[in-house]
Amino acid sequence: MSLADGFFQRHAVSRIDNYLTGDTENYEADRYLASLLVREAPWLPDMVKINRRHGSQAVTVLSRDLGIRQYLDLGCGLPTSWNKRLQRSDPASTYEAAVAAGTRADTRVVYVDNDPMVHAHARMMLDVCSSTTAVLADIGQIGELLNDPAVQALAHRPTAVLLHEVLPWVSDQLAEKAMTALRDWLPDGSAISVTHATTDRAPDAMRALVDHYANAGTHLPAPHPGPDPRTTRAVGQPPARDRPDLAVAGRKQSLPPSRREPRRLRGHRYTAAKQPPELGPPPGREDRSPPGTVFGSGGGGA
Ligand SMILES: C[S@@+](CC[C@H](N)C(=O)[O-])C[C@H]1O[C@@H](n2cnc3c(N)ncnc32)[C@H](O)[C@@H]1O
Repeated sequence: MSLADGFFQRHAVSRIDNYLTGDTENYEADRYLASLLVREAPWLPDMVKINRRHGSQAVTVLSRDLGIRQYLDLGCGLPTSWNKRLQRSDPASTYEAAVAAGTRADTRVVYVDNDPMVHAHARMMLDVCSSTTAVLADIGQIGELLNDPAVQALAHRPTAVLLHEVLPWVSDQLAEKAMTALRDWLPDGSAISVTHATTDRAPDAMRALVDHYANAGTHLPAPHPGPDPRTTRAVGQPPARDRPDLAVAGRKQSLPPSRREPRRLRGHRYTAAKQPPELGPPPGREDRSPPGTVFGSGGGGA
C-alpha cells in the first residue's frame, strides 16, 4: 500500500478527529483546519469524544441486550488512546467493548475504513487476534465492500453494523444506496447503529463547518435537521425518545458529572435492529418500517 503524494500535506477527517480527542496521530494540515472548525464550534472536541464513547457503549448494549457477537465497524477511524487516558474503564476498541460485554470465543469484529493511514493503524492496533480483521474499503462502493472475504465471513450470523460519524462524509446518493444494501444483506437479528451530525441546535455553526471543509477541498454534504433522511428512508424513522426500551445506549450508564454530555450536544444517534419476522415490529412502528426491519434501541441528539 502506498500513500499518494502530498498525503500528509492535506488534512484527513480521521486525523482531525484524532487531534480533537487530544491524540498525536495528526499533522499540521489537520491541526490548522481543526483550529478553524473549533473557532466556529467550540463544542466540537466534546462532540467527538462523546461520539467515541457512545461507540463502545452502543456495542455494550448491542451485545448485552440483543446478544450480537459480530461487528462491522464502518469508518472505524484511527484507534484512540483518549478513552484509555481519561477514563480507564472505557474499552479502547469495538473488539474490547464486545469482549467485555459478551464472550471472547465467538466475538468477531471487522474494521473498515477508506483512509490508508487508518487502515495501517487498524492492522497494527485493532487487528489483534484471529477474531479481528482490518479491511481497506469504501462505503461508496458497498457491493465491493460486502464482497470482501472478511465481511462475507460475517454474513450468516446476526451482525451489528456501526456507522458512527461516517455517513456525513458520504454523498446522499451513495449513503442511501449503502444503507439499503446493508439492510438487505444483514441476516435477521442484526442491527445498524448510526450517529451523524445534525443542524438542529447550531445551524449557523454547522454551515460554517461545511464551508471550511469545502474551502479545504472536502465535500461534507450539508447536514439536515433531525434524523438523517438518507438513513430513515432506508431503515425507517428512529424510535421515540421517551420509550424506556429505546433509550440511547450512551445514556444507560450515568457518567461522572464532569464527563456528562454537554446540554447542547448536536448529534443524533440511534440503533435499528432487524429481527425475525415472527417477532413483529414494536408498538407504534407497524406502518413505517420497511419489511423485516424493526427498531430495537436508539434516540435523538440532545
Ligand atoms: C469522523 S471519523 C469517525 C471515526 C469513528 N467511527 C468514531 O465514531 O469515532 C470518520 C471516519 O470515516 C472514514 N470514512 C470517511 N468516508 C468513508 C468512506 N466513504 N468509506 C469508508 N470510510 C470512510 C474516515 O476515514 C474516518 O476515519
